[in-house]
Amino acid sequence: MNRYDFDTIHDRKGTGCAKYDMLEHFYGKADLLPLWVADMDFAVAPEISNALAERLAHPVLGYNFRMKSYYASIVNWVLRRYNWQIKREWIISTPGVVTAINAAVLTLTSPGDGILVQTPVYDPFFEAVEKHGRRLLTNPLVLSGDRYEIDFADFEQKLLQSRMFILCSPHNPVGRVWTREELVQMGRLCKKHGVVVVSDEIHADIVFSGHRHFTFGSLEDFADFSIVCYSPSKSFNLAGLCTSAIVIPDERLRKTVDGYIWDMHLFLGNTFGITALEAAYTHGEAWLESLLQYLESNRDYLVKYFAEKLPNFRVIKPEGTFLAWLDFRQTGLTDEEFFDRMVNGAGLALSMGKTYGNDGRGFARINFGCPRSVLQDACDRLFNTFG
Ligand SMILES: Cc1ncc(COP(=O)(O)O)c(C=O)c1O
Repeated sequence: MNRYDFDTIHDRKGTGCAKYDMLEHFYGKADLLPLWVADMDFAVAPEISNALAERLAHPVLGYNFRMKSYYASIVNWVLRRYNWQIKREWIISTPGVVTAINAAVLTLTSPGDGILVQTPVYDPFFEAVEKHGRRLLTNPLVLSGDRYEIDFADFEQKLLQSRMFILCSPHNPVGRVWTREELVQMGRLCKKHGVVVVSDEIHADIVFSGHRHFTFGSLEDFADFSIVCYSPSKSFNLAGLCTSAIVIPDERLRKTVDGYIWDMHLFLGNTFGITALEAAYTHGEAWLESLLQYLESNRDYLVKYFAEKLPNFRVIKPEGTFLAWLDFRQTGLTDEEFFDRMVNGAGLALSMGKTYGNDGRGFARINFGCPRSVLQDACDRLFNTFG
């Protein structure tokens, strides 16, 4: 029995949440079932809401100072969950992982420098490169059978022209949890070619049975040239609190990135994000384990449903994350046709795959971080429209 409740449907409309209240803006229609933006529809863990309520019981909300216990919670989490002993001094604070990626690009590369990403990939990676006048290089992931793999020959070729590699680990949207061997091979090649690695590990806590997350900085001597980005915002559904922890062991790299964060006054943080992160990493493990079971059974439901009832579609079974990558190429529909039928027929909002690069055409991303009944409804809508 799961002692936490993931089945209740919370009406989020009108709470100022992107997932529901921006449907009209992004899909042209407000009355859709939203399985798009990557937050979950679950209530925050009671251990976290209690800590927030306790903090709010104190009536003053002035500037923050992160206490020893805050840093200890991160150090302990990284050790317990990812088996890496980090030092408190290596941690810098940013409002988000995307802020950290942009700060790293701005401070560690120059206009015109090549930056490598593995497509299809979380789209703010493209913006972090291109909006700052850097050159986007791509190492397309290869769909081999039922999972995506890395073309290492191409990877090394692209590294020759790169100053930085932005790794998505686990990978959004293709759902890969990279193996130790894959990470070691990527890391060794980056070292060989003097390429700094920004490892976005925001999905690190959401890994399903049979897979294990290896944190990049813990492998070989990769800590010397890596920036590892953690956050409770995906795993504990705290994205609205804008709090992440960035680990940069190398002093020169850390001072460079952190200097920028300080100059922009991005280090200040917000009271509730700080409280919630510490509560999540200190008291949230039981809730997270329950969540993982729930998400894994949602994933299995989704995969089975498509295999049995929608054979023209294929779900690339995610090894981690609460996002599933749906291949609709066999239906023969264009992206525009699929979008039109998804919105106007099924009444659903999924993320279109082309958002994540051109190799995402013919795919859509489904967020299954929702009560099972909502997922069932979404599957039935797809069946009634496309089946
Ligand atoms: C891979 C990845 N990185 C970063 C983010 C967002 O991070 P933040 O809100 O901390 O900037 C997301 C959100 O979906 C994501 O999937």
